[in-house]
Amino acid sequence: MPVSPSLTVCDDRASLFHSVAEEMCSVAKRAIDAHGSFYLALAGGSTPAELYRLLADSYHDRITWSRAHLWFGDERCVPHDHPQSNYRMVRETLLAGVEIPPSQIHPIPTGGSPQSCADDYHHQLLGYSADAASPPVFDLVLLGIGNDGHTASLFPGTPILEERQHYAAAVYVERLKSWRISLTYPLLNAAKACWIVAAGKEKAAIVQRAMSPAEGEPLPIQRLNPNGGVHYYIDRAAASEWKDE
Ligand code: 6PG
Repeated sequence: MPVSPSLTVCDDRASLFHSVAEEMCSVAKRAIDAHGSFYLALAGGSTPAELYRLLADSYHDRITWSRAHLWFGDERCVPHDHPQSNYRMVRETLLAGVEIPPSQIHPIPTGGSPQSCADDYHHQLLGYSADAASPPVFDLVLLGIGNDGHTASLFPGTPILEERQHYAAAVYVERLKSWRISLTYPLLNAAKACWIVAAGKEKAAIVQRAMSPAEGEPLPIQRLNPNGGVHYYIDRAAASEWKDE
């Protein structure tokens, strides 16, 4: 049974993203001091773009980016220059302001079939694990939350929720009529730190539900059970439906 998630509520979006960025600096320093690198998986979607811009603009010299390895929590099966591409969003925000060696930036491939690209990413991840039987251990995984309780591309009612062998998998999302590739629970649950970043009143209901005990079938986000626990970083607007038990 996953440990109850912990929570940081910030006054507004600006202070939320500054809080996440500041804590990320600490995590990165601890990781680099401990093992010489900082393994980071980035969330997609629209929320984190503002955080990535802030990191590029104001934190480019606060983290030793040359030691970072950038992975992606999920990707839409579109070209990397497509407006819907998470890689494009990161390239235009974070990577516009920080220098990471190209060999340490690991976009999810989208040039082939969803299955072949997912297999490719799984094998890339395998190459960074300490042994063939265990996933690579990310120092930090950033994730978002969708209004149906999905995170990355772990959508309710999809087979990817049951994937236990591969660290990345393809998933067809009926509601979106599109294929996605996502990190899976075996990889995400091996992370040292897993942060959910959410902002705005439109997230309040799902954040309240996600942070409460599951009612029947757990939401995909509630099935996260990383070694380092799950921490929510939200603004006051996303906490506006918070009911103290
Ligand atoms: C994606 C994300 C997805 C996202 C949530 C929230 O590729 O869309 O990985 O899981 O984090 O859907 O998206 P917003 O930040 O746009 O609300």
